Amino acid sequence: MPVINRIAEFHDEVTAWRRDLHENPELLYDVHRTAAIVAEKLKAFGCDEVVPGIGKTGVVGVIRGRKNGSKRVIGLRADMDALPIEEITGAPYASKVPGKMHACGHDGHTAMLLGAAKYLAETRNFDGTAIVIFQPAEEGGAGGKAMVDDGMMERWGVQEVYGMHNAPGMPVGTFGTRTGALLAAADFFTVEVEGKGSHAAEPHKGVDTLVAAANILLALQSIVARNLDPLKSGVVTVGAFNGGHAHNVIPQTVKMLGTVRTLVPEARDLLEKRVVETAQGIASAYGAVAKVDYQRNYPVTVNHPKETDFAVKVAREVAGADKVEPNVTPIMGGEDFSFMLEARPGNMIWIGNGDTAACHHPAYDFNDAAIPHGVTYWVRLIETGMPAG
Ligand code: NI
Repeated sequence: MPVINRIAEFHDEVTAWRRDLHENPELLYDVHRTAAIVAEKLKAFGCDEVVPGIGKTGVVGVIRGRKNGSKRVIGLRADMDALPIEEITGAPYASKVPGKMHACGHDGHTAMLLGAAKYLAETRNFDGTAIVIFQPAEEGGAGGKAMVDDGMMERWGVQEVYGMHNAPGMPVGTFGTRTGALLAAADFFTVEVEGKGSHAAEPHKGVDTLVAAANILLALQSIVARNLDPLKSGVVTVGAFNGGHAHNVIPQTVKMLGTVRTLVPEARDLLEKRVVETAQGIASAYGAVAKVDYQRNYPVTVNHPKETDFAVKVAREVAGADKVEPNVTPIMGGEDFSFMLEARPGNMIWIGNGDTAACHHPAYDFNDAAIPHGVTYWVRLIETGMPAG
């Protein structure tokens, strides 16, 4: 079963929705316009229930199949938020909001799930209930967690949940996923090093905070190399290092911001412990003091085996067997669909975005050619997972 004809018919319409969302990007939980459009369309499609305000600004739509003997309930999830990036695509539908853009394709994800909702509400050719989930704040705000914490899974009796994200570099019409860890746990740390400020010409009268901090930065690089099992993955990156203002002053404080990425719980625990110990120990060796604020953010995105086998089967029916990679390499990015996968079994799949700039690049754009493939995949997950017979 390739792209469903009826879905191919509304490719232009879904593209227009996508481009409208692209022109009007909104950040984190502040997705009021986007959520209002989503809710209005779901109502217009004839969804049985449309509930905004789940997890602050998330929207849930309920579509009942023409039969409900199976009592099965499957959730499909899209994200709605954009990023604080200045767009440079030059597209005719480029962002109209300075400093904000859809640089991760969540405009495309939202439009594709709306397209699937339109088709499913029109045809209802399944036995059970489809729940369409539109979440805010994927980009660092844990909107997926907010929706789970709001009782979404229990309220609608969601039994399985599926996610989809575009993948630049994978050809349009292809899919990829894997059982187990697909994306990393993404944690954040802040190290504030305090020495003793002094005249640059009299370092012996102070404690050089910059020298201590520079050694902490270097020592942090040895954690993955020397502490972590080489067969387990980990990343420690310091992305900001700020201290001092003058040629001739040793500053009192230096602040570092960084992130830690891991794929298994043991590595996550180990790296947290070693980041704190290293920062404090090195600071102490230089006579300075390091305060470490370590925040666990998104957990590992773990795909469940049974649901992943099912997702691969459906994707192969839609795209062709040779267009679906069932064992992709995990990536060290984070994704807050992980919270939904902690709450219910399910799968996240990549959908090819073609030869575009990478996600979070100012020249990135979602590829509208992927729309019929993504919409058909969503629809067939429901129709295959809950067949009406
Ligand atoms: Ni994204």
